[in-house]
Amino acid sequence: MLPYWPKIIQQWLSAAVFCLVFMSSCCAPTEPSLIFSYDDSTPFPNAIKCFTCTDKRSNRECNERAYDAFCPKGTKYCHTSHYVNQKTRESILVNKKCAEIQDCTMNTVGCTDTSTKHVQRCVSCCEGTQCNFWSPHNSTTAIFSTLTPLNTAPLQRIPNVILIVGLSITTRLLRLVT
Ligand SMILES: *[C@@H]1O[C@H](CO)[C@@H](O)[C@H](O)[C@H]1NC(C)=O
Repeated sequence: MLPYWPKIIQQWLSAAVFCLVFMSSCCAPTEPSLIFSYDDSTPFPNAIKCFTCTDKRSNRECNERAYDAFCPKGTKYCHTSHYVNQKTRESILVNKKCAEIQDCTMNTVGCTDTSTKHVQRCVSCCEGTQCNFWSPHNSTTAIFSTLTPLNTAPLQRIPNVILIVGLSITTRLLRLVT
């Protein structure tokens, strides 16, 4: 029997390596992609839709060509970036997307000057399906509008902390027993 042991261990090792590779490839953070669905049933609970466009010249052009698709899992907000000439109030560039929480904070929204004179980039975030219909033109509209208070968001991380603490306590207890 003994000569067969290394082979079994080899098989276990290759299985373990395979699992690790598989898990790292499936769970690696990739750019979330839109979910196209032919019916209106949501692909997962709390799925939202956002107007989504890249480098359009106006709000209208953006919305006209926006995809009708569900946002990827993990995105909670709709994000709009609008380059606007504050003197002429002309739109220069509109980008809209589904956004994760790190793209939408009180610090990421608002209007900031660009290197071009009179041109500001105004960013707004909002919560709710297709809430980013309008593009923000000034600091009055370049805001973060949420349906739920923001300070509830960090609570979602607590279960992970409990899990880690629980695991370390369990492993320590197991060490004490053996
Ligand atoms: C932003 O624009 C709106 C409408 O054009 C205007 O009523 C408002 O006073 C502006 N706010 C600022 C801070 O300029």
